[in-house]
Amino acid sequence: MDTVPIDGTIVIGEGERDEAPMLYIGERVGLAHKDQENRRRWDEVDIAVDPLEGTNLCAMGAPNAIAVLAASEKGGLLHAPDLYMEKLVVGPTSKHLVDLDAPVRENLQAIARSLGRQVDELTVVVLDRPRHETLIAEIRSTGARIRLIGDGDLSAGIAAAVSGTGVHAVMGTGGAPEGVLTAAAMRCLNGEIFARLVVAKPEDEERCRAMGITDFKRTYKSADLACGKDIVFAATGVTDGSLMKGPQFFGAGIRTSSLVMQTNPHRIRFIDSIQVYPGPSVKIRF
Ligand code: FBP
Repeated sequence: MDTVPIDGTIVIGEGERDEAPMLYIGERVGLAHKDQENRRRWDEVDIAVDPLEGTNLCAMGAPNAIAVLAASEKGGLLHAPDLYMEKLVVGPTSKHLVDLDAPVRENLQAIARSLGRQVDELTVVVLDRPRHETLIAEIRSTGARIRLIGDGDLSAGIAAAVSGTGVHAVMGTGGAPEGVLTAAAMRCLNGEIFARLVVAKPEDEERCRAMGITDFKRTYKSADLACGKDIVFAATGVTDGSLMKGPQFFGAGIRTSSLVMQTNPHRIRFIDSIQVYPGPSVKIRF
């Protein structure tokens, strides 16, 4: 990141609680950081990173592990504490019809209507966790299909906002940092995340206050979590997934597949790259 002409600050990074050596919250990155004298020349940029979203997925070679970054002008991404967050993620056609506080059945009926489907033709992604036992039972009672995932509600949220992926909603509680990253993706994909922090203990309240959050019951949408005018979202596949392939190693290089999106201009790109290892006779394979 230190080669990029920005005055960057990591606002969501390697946990507030970890003593990570790199990409920790508050770390300054970009050329401005390397080149203090010219600091004023570079735009101030806030950066949210999840270098490995789906650590267990990667460890097990399971699909949809990604490396993720979102950025905006200063102040454009919520500094979310590393708490849990209740989430409902839907695509553009359903986003005005659902509500985080509505019963699951009503939300699914509204999503189905908006997509011209029956409820039993919907697929809802839920993290496979004991805390979701009631939610899973409620979804099943409507007849909707469930896809339980081991990890990775951010990838699932992206899929819910893109038609043709076979995912129509993501429901349940996951990480708040992943919620902010999902919001940045939703800004680019015209989907929506409805989200509320889970503030259960006095320590959680403290951690919210430390990040400037005082309304613990607030329902956020993507424009609240990622309010920047200029949002950039980039994800690269770490294992094969529905939108991106994992890296292919071919001896002399690595082929990677990335999704790069931005709001201004509004553009979505799929970038297929070959990183070539040094050496004049290295053979490139397409
Ligand atoms: P990490 O890869 O960073 O561990 O996160 C994976 C993840 O599954 C997220 O996608 C999700 O939001 C969160 O963890 C859920 O947390 P928990 O595993 O504690 O239920």
